[in-house]
Amino acid sequence: MNYRHGFHAGNFADVLKHVILTRILAHLNAKDAPWRVIDTHAGAGRYDLGSEEALRTHEWKDGVARLDRSPLPGPAEALLQPWREALSGARARHGADAYPGSPWLCRHAMRADDRLIAAELHPQTYKKLAAALGRDTRCKALAIDGWHALRGNVPPRERRGLVLIDPPFEQHDEFAVLAAEFVAAHRKWPTGIYALWHPIKDRRAADGLLAAISAAGIGRLLRLEIDVDRPEAAGGLSATGLIVVNPPWRLAQEAALLLPALSERLAQGPRPRYTCEPIRPDG
Ligand SMILES: C[S@@+](CC[C@H](N)C(=O)[O-])C[C@H]1O[C@@H](n2cnc3c(N)ncnc32)[C@H](O)[C@@H]1O
Repeated sequence: MNYRHGFHAGNFADVLKHVILTRILAHLNAKDAPWRVIDTHAGAGRYDLGSEEALRTHEWKDGVARLDRSPLPGPAEALLQPWREALSGARARHGADAYPGSPWLCRHAMRADDRLIAAELHPQTYKKLAAALGRDTRCKALAIDGWHALRGNVPPRERRGLVLIDPPFEQHDEFAVLAAEFVAAHRKWPTGIYALWHPIKDRRAADGLLAAISAAGIGRLLRLEIDVDRPEAAGGLSATGLIVVNPPWRLAQEAALLLPALSERLAQGPRPRYTCEPIRPDG
């Protein structure tokens, strides 16, 4: 467990994940019925972009800072509104360098009866997470393995909500574990929304994840990817993906507006790319 998200907070991959997360939360809030989010690998909840970790990599400069500079074109910008509002809320409360992670974004979107379960195994990070969620009784921070948290909490009592799976991808078998744990959870709760984050360093691994999901007979997917064309010499991540299972019905349309604009804005080389592909059971 060497991974520290503080080095990567606010980078292009976080921006994609967090913008899509806030769109999903906005859709869940469109109905009165309460929801629950299970955030299996929650991180610290809130990050400080002025910290030593963040200043060592400066990844946020090619992420959230690009969106701070100016709005996206037209309708894409309108879709950023819940994310921008949460970002402003975090900065207003915690200073200009604050960057909200997934549990903070969920808490920001919650209504009185909505609930969050956030699991984080790294002890120091867990302390930060618990502090970020404070005494809010709607939120439960758990210092346990995210896969145990997932197995123990689906289906949620509300029968409505999201599972965000965002592991560190430190182990060689993490794609296989993600696929197996997701498929098992989906068997117990087939109607939940699931967002599966993954890096794209090896095309075959990302394609294998999708193949494993399809082989389990799971349809109604939305495959979202951006590649910022990061130069080889700079190292690090160039592309990232999210597979959204049971996406809210307008999410594909929204992503089709957002991804071209985001991949342009976050580009690090001349050929940024994106994928926005709805996949349905009937093909
Ligand atoms: C990519 S970060 C999470 C970022 C967060 N979801 C966000 O968007 O703000 C992955 C986190 O998983 C934690 N982690 C690693 N192994 C874990 C496990 N088995 N169970 C739960 N958390 C784990 C790491 O300490 C790290 O904080």
